[in-house]
Amino acid sequence: MKATAFAPVNVALIKYWGKGDEKLRLPANSSLSVNLTKMGTVTTVEWVKGLKQDGADERMIRHLDRIRGLAQINLRAKVVTENNFPAGAGLSSSASGLAALTLAATAAIGLKLSKKDLSRLARLGSGSACRSIPNGWVEWQKGSDDKNSYAQTIFPVKHWDLRILAVILSQQEKKVSSTDGQALAKTSPFFKERIKGIDKKIINIKQAIKEKNFKKTGEIIEEDCLNMHAVMLTSQPSLMYWLPETVGVIQAIREWREQGLESYFTINTGQNVFVFCEPKNEDKLVDELSHLRGVIEVRREKVGLGARLLA
Ligand code: PMV
Repeated sequence: MKATAFAPVNVALIKYWGKGDEKLRLPANSSLSVNLTKMGTVTTVEWVKGLKQDGADERMIRHLDRIRGLAQINLRAKVVTENNFPAGAGLSSSASGLAALTLAATAAIGLKLSKKDLSRLARLGSGSACRSIPNGWVEWQKGSDDKNSYAQTIFPVKHWDLRILAVILSQQEKKVSSTDGQALAKTSPFFKERIKGIDKKIINIKQAIKEKNFKKTGEIIEEDCLNMHAVMLTSQPSLMYWLPETVGVIQAIREWREQGLESYFTINTGQNVFVFCEPKNEDKLVDELSHLRGVIEVRREKVGLGARLLA
């Protein structure tokens, strides 16, 4: 009746921003991501006979309700969850958190779900959580209903040793959650244009990843990140997740690139920045990034596996 799971943070190369169906958490567009090796959430779930209330926050309780429905049980659960990174600042804690909860809670009650069904279930908890279930390089096909909207591995971990640096700027939590921000996406005049171009972008980036073409992959990552933030900035009300230090990192990356030190950035709903680079430039970039104004910490990451049981 008890299980512990780890789920990694996943970083989107092509972002999910805006829903097609709110209730089923079907996205307006397909998206593509990599899992990280170390940053993530460890969650223990124990279903306890006689317990009157779940020991969990509201969002988790709604997810436990779904799992109770699937397992046809009426038990409550104790949940202990820990992120090994600052939550609520654009490092995708809801993705790793809801993916870890999905795996731990279903395993603890003896439900043996396939990766596909775990991904579908995690999606209902937090859209991007479905991408923290499969291993390595992952694509979430938007699908058209609850059954066919889930994430799958498109390339294994070992396909390409890219490095991801998580640049942590501030421990401050964002004011508008991803869920609330997502709901505003459609108010941007750029939203429809963004959606129109996504399928082509996904085809192009998959080809670039297949060929291990770093420049092409990086350029698409940045283009899509800025495209999503343009939608955020022009939604009503306007959303701006960046701090001045976030812009400082972007400018530094562009300058270093001109000087031959190549890396590309992406940013989620928060001030922190993820930087993609090749192994040969990792040490130099960590050093340079650590010296920028406002940088608290730079974490070194690689492409990693998806959610797994620890106990
Ligand atoms: O799954 P949500 O509702 O937390 O939204 C994720 C939003 C982004 O991180 C900005 C983009 C993405 O695809 O991960």
